[in-house]
Amino acid sequence: MIDACATLERIALAELASATDAASLEAWRVRFLGANGELRALMNRLKDAPKDQKPALGKRLNESKVALEGAHVARREAFESAMATAGIDLTEPGLPVGLGRRHPISRTIDGIVDAFRVMGFSVVDGPEVEDEWHNFTALNIPPGHPARERTDNFFMPTVDGVVRLLRTQTSTVQIRALETMPLPLKVVAVGRVYRPDTHDATHYSMFHQVEGLSVDRGVSMADLKTTLLQFAHAYFGEDAEVRMRPSFFPFTEPSAEVDMKMHIKGQWQWVEIGGCGMVDPAVLQAVGIDPEEWTGFAFGLGVERIAMRKHGISDIRWLFENDARFLRQFG
Ligand code: DAH
Repeated sequence: MIDACATLERIALAELASATDAASLEAWRVRFLGANGELRALMNRLKDAPKDQKPALGKRLNESKVALEGAHVARREAFESAMATAGIDLTEPGLPVGLGRRHPISRTIDGIVDAFRVMGFSVVDGPEVEDEWHNFTALNIPPGHPARERTDNFFMPTVDGVVRLLRTQTSTVQIRALETMPLPLKVVAVGRVYRPDTHDATHYSMFHQVEGLSVDRGVSMADLKTTLLQFAHAYFGEDAEVRMRPSFFPFTEPSAEVDMKMHIKGQWQWVEIGGCGMVDPAVLQAVGIDPEEWTGFAFGLGVERIAMRKHGISDIRWLFENDARFLRQFG
């Protein structure tokens, strides 16, 4: 075993001389000095040696360890001083690694959805390329209605006789949920919607909506207002308030605009954040649900509107230009 020590030292030192960079130096250390390395393997054999030879062998193994560790340190220092002479200062801090962060719209969506989840809503999804049934007809927007004009929609090529378009509202997901899910149901859907608007500070051809739908026996306008108020408290704080103003949407009756009073940068402001109402019986009938037995409420909130007010962003275009200097300010 004394011989084995000498052999190991000889091989290790020869190999060390050919380690020419940090990676091969480290590989050498693992191979010879590592916890499962060759020196350790020799040391493990010590327990099987005759008792009277153990002290001498132990001493010899220790000498090998000291020799190899010393050689390793010397070699590493030689590397470092070579790099220093070459003008590389290892004590210099490295280049900063740029960390990404969530987009303000994604963060806003997460916050809104979390608040509704707590209230027992589940999250559902629907396609952005829709047919006229889900975007219009089932939502009580019949053929010939001005909302179906070519100039107000992004129509896509017709496939198998089905006219398709980019959805203009997430209310489409109400229909998809009612067609596929058992009642009662409580769902929210979040996503992109598209309208051919000219881009300016408050308009963009793509934006995001959060749609909510609750259908059960005996659901009322009071449930709707409570839900919106609880959301306002969860998302904007306990002092937030909700106001509903009479309005019109084809798929709700009665319908209302929703304003929320929020405390923004030291000031109370009423902000219009979407529309809501009781699901129109014609919508329930369109998907084969008996409006005498079931009632529902629905709402649709504008995500950009909420994010812009919350963060004091005055131009919607900034949200989609992906200028890192702008995005870096959030989160
Ligand atoms: N879909 C409407 C829009 O895009 C918003 C809306 C209003 C959604 C009332 C609803 C609702 O669910 O009940 O303007």
